Amino acid sequence: MTVQVIVGSQWGDEGKGKITDILAEHSNYVVRYQGGNNAGHTVVVGESVFKLHLIPSGILYDSCCSIIANGVVLDPAVFLEEIETLRKQGIVVTPDKLKISSIANVILPIHRDLDNKQESLRHNEKIGTTGKGIGPAYTHKISRLGVRVQDLMSKDVLMKKLIKQNWQDVYDANDFNLNDVVDLYYSYGQQLKPYMTDTSLFINNAIDAGKNVILEGAQGTLLDVDHGTYPFVTSSNPVSGGACIGAGIGPHKIKKVIGVTKAYLTRVGEGPFTTELNDDFGELLREKGGEFGTTTGRPRRCGWLDLVILKYAIRVNGLTEICLTKLDVLDDFDEIKICTHYKSKDGEILDEYPLDLEVYSQCTPVYETLKGWKSDISQLTQYADLPENAKKYVDFIFNKTNVPIQMISVGTRRRQTIHLITKT
Ligand code: GDP
Ligand code: IMO
Ligand code: MG
Repeated sequence: MTVQVIVGSQWGDEGKGKITDILAEHSNYVVRYQGGNNAGHTVVVGESVFKLHLIPSGILYDSCCSIIANGVVLDPAVFLEEIETLRKQGIVVTPDKLKISSIANVILPIHRDLDNKQESLRHNEKIGTTGKGIGPAYTHKISRLGVRVQDLMSKDVLMKKLIKQNWQDVYDANDFNLNDVVDLYYSYGQQLKPYMTDTSLFINNAIDAGKNVILEGAQGTLLDVDHGTYPFVTSSNPVSGGACIGAGIGPHKIKKVIGVTKAYLTRVGEGPFTTELNDDFGELLREKGGEFGTTTGRPRRCGWLDLVILKYAIRVNGLTEICLTKLDVLDDFDEIKICTHYKSKDGEILDEYPLDLEVYSQCTPVYETLKGWKSDISQLTQYADLPENAKKYVDFIFNKTNVPIQMISVGTRRRQTIHLITKT
C-alpha cells in the first residue's frame, strides 16, 4: 500500500499528466485535490492524445478509479463535456470509475464573468488568468458563499444560495435570471448525482484497505496562493499540504511526495521569471518543447532550469523524490545553463528564494554552464545509455538538491521514460 502525492515543482505544465498516467498503472485510485479546469494535462497513449482538465490522469486505466475531491472547484458543463470527449476517444467513464465529492465547490457563470471582468480592470497589472472562473469561485468558497455539488440536488437550496451571492451587484437586472440558472444547474446536478459521494470517506476506506492511491496536484508550487509568486498565482494550494485538505486525509497517511520537474522552465501568464529567455534559446525551447498552453493555447514563456526555486519547492512540499521531464527538449543545445543562485539588486548572492516579490523580481540569475549532449535521447529507456553530458546534467541536479531522481521522461509517450535511476 502506498499513498503518494504528485506535485508540480515549478509554475505548472511540468508534465504531471504524463507522470501520473505512468504511475497510475500500478495504482487503484487517482485523486485530484485542488484547482479546476484551469489545469491542462496532456497524456499521450499510442496515437491518442488526451487533454484532461478536470478528470484525473488515472482515467485511462480500467483498473483505476478517479476521484475529484472536495478541494477542486468543479465546472459542471466542463466536466460533462470532458466525459463526452473521453467517450468519443473510447474511454467510457462510469460512476464506478469516477467519483466526485459532494462538497466540492461549483464554478458558476458569475465566476467566469467576474474572472474576466477583474482581469480587464487590472490594465497593466494583469495576472494572466485562464479565465475559467477559478479565483472568484474560491473567493466565494472562502467567503462562505459558495455552492457545493450537493446543493445542485435541490432547486430550493440552490436558489437560496444563489440569492446570497448578490448577482445584482455584478450584472444589470436584465442580464441574468436566477430561475434560469437554477434550472440549468439543477439539470447538471441530476447528471452529476450518480458520481457524487463522500470522497474523504471513500479515499480513507481505500487507504485502510491497503490500496495504492495517487493524489494528483494541478498547477505548481510557484503558483500556490500561499507559497507562490503572489499575487501572480492561482487561488488554491497545489503544494503537498493542500492534498490533505483537498482530499480529506491525514498527513501521516502520505508516504511519498513526488515533484515533477521540467528539465528547463516555463511559465504561462504574468509574473516574475528570473531565468526567462527572450531570445533564440527561448524560442528553441518553446518550439521543441511544444510549449503552448493546453487550456488556453497561449505560448508559454521559457527559460533555463532554476535550482533556487527547485530547492524551495523541495522544502515547502517535502519532496521525497523528483521526476525529471522533457530532458529530450535539451538535445540540440551546445551549452545548457542552470541557475544555482540569484544576485539581488544590491549585488548580494542569494541561496534561497526571497519571499518579497519586489526583491525577487529584481534578482538576476547566477548560472553554471554545462555542455550539451547534442544527440537524440528520446528513445532511450536505460539511464546507463544516456550520453555522458546528459548524465552530468542529471547528476548536477541531484548533487545540488540531494533529492533522488526517480524517473526521467524523454518524450510524450509512456515508453519514453527512464525508470528508477534513484541515487542516494
Ligand atoms: P502538466 O500540466 O504538468 O500535466 O503538463 P502539460 O501536459 O500541460 O504539459 C506538458 C507537455 O509536455 C504535454 O504536451 C506532454 O505531452 C509533454 N511531455 C511530457 N513529458 C514529456 C517529455 O519528457 N518530453 C517531451 N518532449 N514532451 C513531454
Ligand atoms: P497545470 O495543471 C500553468 C496560471 C495562469 C495564471 C495563474 C492564475 O496544467 O500545470 P487562474 O486561472 O488559475 O486564476 O490563473 O495561474 N495557471 C497555470 N499555469 N499550468 C497550469 O495548470 C495553470 N493553471 C493556472 O496562467 O498565470
Ligand atoms: Mg498543463
